[in-house]
Amino acid sequence: MRRRERGGPTLARSALVTLSHSFLSLAIAAAGGAAETNALKEIVPPGLLIGVAVNQDQSDGQDAAAIAIVKQHFNSISPENLLKWEAVHPEPDRYVLDPADRFVAFGRQNGMAVIGHVLLWHQQTPAWVFAGAGGALPDRETLLGRLRSHIETVVGRYRGRIHGWDVVNEAFEDDGTWRQTPWLKAIGPDYVERAFELAHAADPEAELYYNDYNLWKPEKRKAAIALVRRLHAQGLRVDAIGEQAHWGVADPPLAEIDAMLGDFAAAGMKVMLTELDMDVLPRDPEMWGADLSKKQQIRTATNIYTDGLPAEKQADLAKRYADVFALVLRHRKTVSRVTLWGVTDAQSWLHDFPIPGRVNYPLLWDREGRAKPAFHAVVEVLRTRGEVAPR
Ligand code: XIL
Repeated sequence: MRRRERGGPTLARSALVTLSHSFLSLAIAAAGGAAETNALKEIVPPGLLIGVAVNQDQSDGQDAAAIAIVKQHFNSISPENLLKWEAVHPEPDRYVLDPADRFVAFGRQNGMAVIGHVLLWHQQTPAWVFAGAGGALPDRETLLGRLRSHIETVVGRYRGRIHGWDVVNEAFEDDGTWRQTPWLKAIGPDYVERAFELAHAADPEAELYYNDYNLWKPEKRKAAIALVRRLHAQGLRVDAIGEQAHWGVADPPLAEIDAMLGDFAAAGMKVMLTELDMDVLPRDPEMWGADLSKKQQIRTATNIYTDGLPAEKQADLAKRYADVFALVLRHRKTVSRVTLWGVTDAQSWLHDFPIPGRVNYPLLWDREGRAKPAFHAVVEVLRTRGEVAPR
């Protein structure tokens, strides 16, 4: 028996033993012991939200397989389309809020952080919003008035129930210049300030975000950071920047993503990957602006996995997801949420973007709702990093 008189060291030693026991049980859990769980929300680091975009079928309860996945794995949901202006406010005096009500209720009932997407965008916004006299744009005050009623109604309705809003989407071009949208042209660059101001007034508790894509491109990122600094300098609330993260299997290079996360950290800003998916099909530089006949050619040339994704491509996708999640873990103090843009490959928007009618494989579950190698790779990274805190 150990002698008791040297209390200090004995105490210290027993504390060490306890520590190593709990470390051991953690290690056993991580290696697949009794406490094993593959639920993503259970194995992300504490404080990191793991979200998914749901479509209306899902939030209406009509897609049982997808709903089961959402409930098991995610602690945050985003609406893929149903809170966009065209969906909720199709005419000046008509709001359609029932589907959004069901979406918010679904998230709240399941204890999820419900995200609002999106208050101000140049797409999926009905033509009446941008219509002024004689076919011109509306004047500044008219458009600001429309924005005010929209934000007051929609944000106000879910006050206290929506965790955070994408307030403004895609204000910049890739080179960091202002995107020439009707919002910019009719109101001027302070349309961003006004939108954040209105959103904050309508729900002072809600987090507010600036959301854009390709922020891994340095020029665009610089513009987004400068914008948020400008808003902060005016005392406006902006909680985080969202990088949509519609990425490919090789593009953008990991080093660029790493640099992006590092720059946001250096600027003292939080970042979220708000719409993560990985396009596995080849891209053609001409596919964005191509006319219809050219598009048809490009579709045929690039729609190359109609009979299934070959095993080695499946492995590339898995590695890519693992690499991205490993980077997120490394930048965990900066990244506050990762949201996948869709539940299974059955529903992804990437079958129709940027070219309609292709077969794509961008997500973690296949068309039948089975977990793909990419899912297992993400689980592996989350469980074995040593960054994973006990639950
Ligand atoms: C997409 C949806 O996934 C599609 O269903 C819809 O047809 C078009 O919009 N950036 C965004 C998202 O902020 O709202 C877009 O969602 C994808 C690009």
